[in-house]
Amino acid sequence: MSPKSLVNIGDYNREDILRILQAASRFKENPNRDLLQGRVCATLFFEPSTRTRLSFETAVNRLRGRIIGFSDAATSSSTKGESLKDTIMMVSNYADLIIMRHHLEGSARYASEISPVPMINAGDGSNQHPTQTLLDLFTIFETQETLENLSITVVGDLKYGRAVHSLIQGLSHFNPSFHFVAPEELAIPEKYKAFCDKNGIAFREYTEFSPEAINGSDILYMTRVQKERFTDLMEYEKVKNVYVLHNEMLSDSKKNLRVLHPLPRVKEISQDVDDNPKAYYFQQAKNGMFVRQAVICDLLGIDIQQTI
Ligand code: CP
Repeated sequence: MSPKSLVNIGDYNREDILRILQAASRFKENPNRDLLQGRVCATLFFEPSTRTRLSFETAVNRLRGRIIGFSDAATSSSTKGESLKDTIMMVSNYADLIIMRHHLEGSARYASEISPVPMINAGDGSNQHPTQTLLDLFTIFETQETLENLSITVVGDLKYGRAVHSLIQGLSHFNPSFHFVAPEELAIPEKYKAFCDKNGIAFREYTEFSPEAINGSDILYMTRVQKERFTDLMEYEKVKNVYVLHNEMLSDSKKNLRVLHPLPRVKEISQDVDDNPKAYYFQQAKNGMFVRQAVICDLLGIDIQQTI
């Protein structure tokens, strides 16, 4: 039987999510623990990353585990034609857990079915980014003191944004209502609207980034237009700066509103927002380390409650 992996946020039910968030809050109190002594984790990044890779690697280092891997596939034997299957089989000879980012949708599921050791999907194309969702949920709880019944406005590239796709699924356990703000070219895909309908989740779509979409919200989740997913760069040029959040646009927003972004940002959040207390994206990124410590321990069967 394959070991349990985290490929899709749908792999975790409501109890799993709450268990991870509770463990992450323990790691936030103290991230330096002797829990991964003698364990090796591999980070295989076939696509660029700053936060995800470095927060995973810091998570392991702070738990006294060891890290192997690559941050650029050009330095791996995939450039010589080695298949993903063979790469996973080789790395599982060396590591107790594999963390992989890959440009192909479905690659993480495929790798998890091959791998004899647990796999964590650190992003597969425009499909899923489940640990981003767990850190988003952790941050939402931290700022709102609940995950239930929140109004979430999601802005930007809802077609290719894997963080958005995972977030919709992850929040589905907590009765959210969504406002989806995107140009027609980057609208939320039908399958996520069908998912909302099936799960009784209210949503509205907008093409204008209007006060109406901001002022009633608890969370304003900004996203970058995903240049790397466009096959026609002229199409990217048309939509790249379609929405920009400026500080004055938050003046009538709810007191509890927090602005989140999975990062990196390009121009969609003006730097004049950064000093607004409602801007919370840098704290959000920091939370990634604690959440990833919790996920790694969970998949390796380390009982955090007993050891912390
Ligand atoms: N949020 C996120 O995945 O950032 P990186 O691409 O820098 O890892």
